[in-house]
Amino acid sequence: MNIIEIINKKRLKQELTDEEIKYVVEGYLSEEIKDYQMSSLLMAILLNDMTNNEIYSLTKYMADSGDKLDLTVLGDNVVDKHSTGGVGDKTTLIITPIVASCGVKVAKMSGKGLGHTGGTIDKLESIPGFTVNMKEDVFLNQVNTINAAITSQTENIAIADKKIYALRDVTGTVESIPLIASSIMSKKIALGTKKLVLDVKVGKGALIKNIEDAKRLSSLMIDIGKHNNIEVVCVLTNMDIPLGNNIGNSLEVEEAISILRDGKEGSLTELCIELSSHMVSLGLNISYEEAKDKVIENLKNKSAYNKFLEIIKKQNGNIDLLPKEANQYDIKSMSEGYLVDMDAYKLGLLSMSLGAGRKNKEDTIDYSAGIVIHKNINDYINKEDILMTLYTNKEITSLDNTIFKISERKIPDNKLILDIMK
Ligand code: URA
Repeated sequence: MNIIEIINKKRLKQELTDEEIKYVVEGYLSEEIKDYQMSSLLMAILLNDMTNNEIYSLTKYMADSGDKLDLTVLGDNVVDKHSTGGVGDKTTLIITPIVASCGVKVAKMSGKGLGHTGGTIDKLESIPGFTVNMKEDVFLNQVNTINAAITSQTENIAIADKKIYALRDVTGTVESIPLIASSIMSKKIALGTKKLVLDVKVGKGALIKNIEDAKRLSSLMIDIGKHNNIEVVCVLTNMDIPLGNNIGNSLEVEEAISILRDGKEGSLTELCIELSSHMVSLGLNISYEEAKDKVIENLKNKSAYNKFLEIIKKQNGNIDLLPKEANQYDIKSMSEGYLVDMDAYKLGLLSMSLGAGRKNKEDTIDYSAGIVIHKNINDYINKEDILMTLYTNKEITSLDNTIFKISERKIPDNKLILDIMK
């Protein structure tokens, strides 16, 4: 087989065979296929798309390229959840204990953040003592005993995806729907997932900017799921504005606690209830409505908060010692009117520049850095009202003044849940 012929075939919009895709994945891993050849093929895929059969093959060979986990030892009420990445997205911290408290097992493997979006592992690492590198047997044992564990994804899962994703990141080929779908699902197949709720983020702060693309991505991931015996529910959600009020690692842990312990309400809580209800429905084989009643009950009666404390204790964390050493700077409004926009992407970048995220994989994180937003969309803002507080140990030299938009008129309510697909 010849990589140039394969690139030419894709350039001419012809379908690649299963053998050709196997050759590409294995050849790229063994370095027989070079970065420049793979980049060229990825760009041809981005421009000319893939058929479902091509996507199934790519997903299969990427899933087979590394270690595999067998979750069947945990029984059939194990449910996973995955978000395509957003700003202020601390849902895993809240959903895992809610769902586990309802009797569903959550064996969560999460990643670190890069760029304007955060990662669950960084948020958990901000809790002093919290173990994020669990051995597989310890991880599975904890899920068996308390229904939940959260750990770093092992290095060797879907290693072809890891290598291809790193190349996509530097060749402008991340935003290809078939490549995103196969990348996400290859990891889920390798992790042994059988029931999966996907939070597909749409909007300014997300990888996917419009609803049509989000629907295509969702329907592809559902198809890949069917092909691999994985039940998939996609919840398409708005990411034009950040999720909740806090962005940054320990600040996001604090916000998660305020929902689980203090019953804080708002769009973040609404989303957590929605995602948890789909997970509990899948895990216990009950209706969405029945599952939602259980979820709301366990939030109210604090079973979910007690489960959160149990997970933290089991993984040696101490939430009384969350880092708080960052300096605080209040940012005030220079005008008055209704708050009609706060740009999730720009806030994500700002939070990263304050020290809460990484520009490059090697960068270190300041766990106490980040942003607390004090206002919500359609709140009336007076001059000098505090819009947000910045937490940082860095010097702030300039600030983008287009993050917030204030207008004379309110806007129609922003829909958070845009669609459900299964
Ligand atoms: N997340 C992934 O795991 N892969 C992609 O390609 C995009 C988002």
